[in-house]
Amino acid sequence: MTIRAVVKGVGHYLPKRVVENSEFEVSLDTSDEWIQARSGIKRRHFAAEGEKTSDMAISAAQAALSDAGFEPNDLDAVIVATSTSDLTFPSVATIVQSGLNMTGGFAYDIQAVCAGFVFALSTANAQILSGQAERIMVIGAESFSRLMDWEDRSTCVLFGDGAGAVLLQAERGKGSSDDRGILSVDLNSDGRHKDILYVDGGVSTGQTGYLRMQGKEVFRHAVEKLAQTASVAMEKAGVRAEDIDWVVPHQANIRIINSTTKKMGVAPEKVVKTVKDHGNTSAASIPLALSVAKANGQIKHNDLIVTEAIGGGLAWGAIVLRW
Ligand code: ACO
Repeated sequence: MTIRAVVKGVGHYLPKRVVENSEFEVSLDTSDEWIQARSGIKRRHFAAEGEKTSDMAISAAQAALSDAGFEPNDLDAVIVATSTSDLTFPSVATIVQSGLNMTGGFAYDIQAVCAGFVFALSTANAQILSGQAERIMVIGAESFSRLMDWEDRSTCVLFGDGAGAVLLQAERGKGSSDDRGILSVDLNSDGRHKDILYVDGGVSTGQTGYLRMQGKEVFRHAVEKLAQTASVAMEKAGVRAEDIDWVVPHQANIRIINSTTKKMGVAPEKVVKTVKDHGNTSAASIPLALSVAKANGQIKHNDLIVTEAIGGGLAWGAIVLRW
């Protein structure tokens, strides 16, 4: 008998304010045409004034709980992947715990920037397999609009805000790739590349700072490393590209998504794409895409899914799971 961490519910939250590319044309030397052609992004959501990462995380978690038919106190743990916590501490996860009126269990954040959700899912999986927890809410939530330099047209048009949540539960499997749940994980990081994507603020500077990125360099690493990690995860799970029902990639740039999935040998119609409407929501992008894809009938029970992401650090990884 094998224990598997199986998805029992999924949900998401997007802030009300939708910002079309055309809004940037007013203040920047840019165009809807450039943004769409270079990134695939048409619009994104921005959190309202006073709306925090934890507010979005709580809404996404409530949606996932309702999808699964569970109550907050059915959970053993809450893990939030975020690089935009409300405050330096406490963790967003403990704020979520309080917001859900969850009185037991444990809660903490994970920070691996845009790869954060993959790292959080992997950690939740390990805690379920080791018997430390049976039910874990894994959330990706971000307010990247708070990190934008609005005069830097090469970054501020790319990011958005939002949250997604996935509820995992321990279930028995047979130990084969036919099992539902997480089948394999591959995680990587290489701190030598820490300077190509970072925020120039934090505790050491006394200011929140702005996101800085060498876009072309990040792009080059992304395509190579995402295809590589996806292939390692598929090999670990004992599945081939032709077995995959859906690739759910980190939604950073349509050109990265298309090049990576082509390298993986997966047909374009098997790729979930939400970047056009959400922009890059960092650690929130994968659970948001999973939730939207389930809601619109793309992802179904028993589908075989590969999810992959890369972010600042660089940190990157992939997970194979059966829905
Ligand atoms: N509007 C118009 N022109 C622009 C804009 C803009 N918004 N932004 C940049 N340009 C200009 C540049 O100034 C440059 O002009 P120049 O040739 O006169 O110097 C020209 O467009 C080309 O710029 P490049 O940077 O070469 O354009 P590129 O094709 O590389 O596209 C982009 C830029 C979209 C940032 C791309 O490199 C990219 O997507 N990189 C990966 C970024 C990414 O996905 N990051 C997130 C991953 S990790 C994470 O999620 C945290």
